[in-house]
Amino acid sequence: MTNPAEKVRSIFGERFQQEPLLVRSPGRINIIGEHTDYNEGFVLPAAIDKAAYLAVSLRDDDEIHLVAADLQEQYTTSLRELAPCDSINWPNYILGAAAQFRSSGLPLRGFNAVLSSDVPIGAGLSSSAAVECATVFALNHLLGTGLNRLTMVKMAQMAEHEFAGVKCGIMDQFASMMGKKDQLIKIDCRSLDYEYIPLKLDGYKVLLLNTNVKHSLAGSEYNLRRQECEAAVQLIRQHHPEVTSLRFATEAMLDAYVQPVNPMADQRSRYVVQEIMRLLDACDALKHGDVHKLGRLMFETHEGLSKMYSVSCKELDWLVNQVRRHEAVLGARMMGGGFGGCTINLVREEAIDDLVSTLAPAYEAAMDLPLTYYVASIDNGTEIIS
Ligand code: GLA
Repeated sequence: MTNPAEKVRSIFGERFQQEPLLVRSPGRINIIGEHTDYNEGFVLPAAIDKAAYLAVSLRDDDEIHLVAADLQEQYTTSLRELAPCDSINWPNYILGAAAQFRSSGLPLRGFNAVLSSDVPIGAGLSSSAAVECATVFALNHLLGTGLNRLTMVKMAQMAEHEFAGVKCGIMDQFASMMGKKDQLIKIDCRSLDYEYIPLKLDGYKVLLLNTNVKHSLAGSEYNLRRQECEAAVQLIRQHHPEVTSLRFATEAMLDAYVQPVNPMADQRSRYVVQEIMRLLDACDALKHGDVHKLGRLMFETHEGLSKMYSVSCKELDWLVNQVRRHEAVLGARMMGGGFGGCTINLVREEAIDDLVSTLAPAYEAAMDLPLTYYVASIDNGTEIIS
């Protein structure tokens, strides 16, 4: 049984003898604008055709019965004991999302849920945000709480903060919930204004190359980067109180107030300030159909993430270096939080098979890990399937 939607429906039927609500919520890519969301910058993500599927029904008691179909694991708790689970991670994305109803003062009931997902885990494609969004969306529908999508995005983000311990920005949950077929979403993470921009790549495709190095955002480096950026903001604020985030910082401010006292925070925040500008250039290039420029900017982002922000790893660097001078590749960079996961590559469609069949054995020989790949299509955000 390969189709995750069928899988959850059938397992739900066997286990709970009920007809559930079935919700699909996708993973995401991000074209450019990495580690800018929690600095109130811009991002340019899109939902993809890989998704989490969650079958849910309400119960008459206060119990919560969860099944992870892909792992063949179960977890049971109750509303009274609603708290993060220490021993396994997957229930936390569902429980964290449910807990948001209670902390928002909304009525919550016990529920049954079966989860299956084809978003690869730890690949930087936001498999966790997909589950959080699916859960909030399903419970909102079943409980009749009438929340709008933006409120649900924020609840899903808080689920990650409170139950997974990662102080993530808003990008992943926003992209999963608000995605639209064939459209990128340019999000202003300060005002949360957003705009859909069609991805017209003119014979090129989005190829994801998975290092199969599992990133662990919770491995504290992510939260540390956030603190380093905040340290830079504090230094600038002593002279420019209006600078409340790196969104308003300039390189001249970094030269004057951060570089002399905290060279590490300077490197981190300089990357962010440059990346916010790069994203604006990239949107301009996209609007003018200049895909070559977009590609060059992606390579620059990788340099910054690797050398200044220090969130890459040798496998990601290796993959980006291999394609750097390939005539069929417009641009490539590591994607997502970092320390593993995928690179995102813009590759001429006819060249994809050749590229992958050359790269895969070379990667395996160099890194002793398999290389997997996906050609991502841009799809709709969170939706009810039945
Ligand atoms: C993770 C986080 C996002 C974002 C990216 C980096 O995916 O969940 O909020 O910060 O890393 O751009």
